[in-house]
Amino acid sequence: MKTKIESIFHQKFEGKPLIVRSPGRINFIGEHVDYNGGYVLPAAIDKYIYVAIDKRNDGIIGLYSVNFDVKIEIELNNLKPSNDFSTYVFGVVDQVIKRGYSISGFNIVIYGDIPVGAGLSSSAALESAVAFAINEVYQLGISKLELVSIAQSAESTFAGVNCGVMDMFASIYGQKDFAIKLDCNSLQFEYMPLVLDGYSLVLFNSNVKHSLASSAYNVRRRQCEIGLNRIKHFLPKVNTFRDVTESNLIEYILPFDKEIFTRCLYVVKEIQRLNEACQHLANGNLQALGQLLYATHDGLSLEYEVSCFELDFLIDEVKGNSNVLGARMMGGGFGGCTINIVKDEAISELIDSLKVNYLKTTGLHLEVIKVQTVNGTEIVV
Ligand code: GLA
Repeated sequence: MKTKIESIFHQKFEGKPLIVRSPGRINFIGEHVDYNGGYVLPAAIDKYIYVAIDKRNDGIIGLYSVNFDVKIEIELNNLKPSNDFSTYVFGVVDQVIKRGYSISGFNIVIYGDIPVGAGLSSSAALESAVAFAINEVYQLGISKLELVSIAQSAESTFAGVNCGVMDMFASIYGQKDFAIKLDCNSLQFEYMPLVLDGYSLVLFNSNVKHSLASSAYNVRRRQCEIGLNRIKHFLPKVNTFRDVTESNLIEYILPFDKEIFTRCLYVVKEIQRLNEACQHLANGNLQALGQLLYATHDGLSLEYEVSCFELDFLIDEVKGNSNVLGARMMGGGFGGCTINIVKDEAISELIDSLKVNYLKTTGLHLEVIKVQTVNGTEIVV
């Protein structure tokens, strides 16, 4: 891959580029809780955004996307959000400049094999790769944690999604064979060994693109803020949803707004599920972990209402199968992938039958992505 992206760089620009890659992510459990003060359990996966970058000193960004075959030139002092992939690059640059770092332009070639819209955080991987790469070529000395913050701010200011911290954190901090138990309040984290003896992680991409997802995402976030603020009003000692119980919700939110109650109920239950899931993972109890994944899916579908027919179908199809320990929709929702913990010997048979049934029922092709965990954003040597 290094040679390929280097040679494309040489076709489009002059100079000798640095190659950086940043992975996509999965998340075992802890969905839609990163912006609700919970914990999450993501891992970086072997699907990447690659960038080849070299400095220039005329205040211009030259950008070429291999996937979209688009070349753009833009002045550093004229960056605005757009509605294509370049918005993630410009959003990062805008943040770097706003935070007082000095840069004088660069050429960059971007290539990715993370499916877009599949809930694997291709945008966070792109933002993380660009932030990391600029930091390297300009020797800005930005910490990993600030790179995460730059990527997250780029997503909210330029891409318009008021997202949590999980995706970029996983992309930058990922470690092979580990999941990251991340406290999204304090950003303290611990690496949890992933021992899946005899089982593998298989993603089924519904191929439904989540076009409504960003507006629905922001609405969910706002509903939870309203719910939490109301609880805080009655219970001033409450800081985050971690301090909230189901009976608090019944007492203070249910009489006020049923929909907000249901959203908050999901959050409180998901925060509990994550803690249990981490214990099961630490004890090697994959059966119990898997059951929690199914419970999370139900919550995302019925309470948080971010699933869709196709994702629910994919879960219903595997639920009674004793070779699938657990499964759920993953990421923001309204499409994208399900994550499944599947017994190794049973994978190919499952894929064959699911592909046929999925096509028959939805008219869509099922994409199968087997994933391995990998290290976070790094220079490719
Ligand atoms: C998207 C967001 C994340 C997180 C997930 C849902 O991937 O970018 O911050 O909220 O949805 O868990």
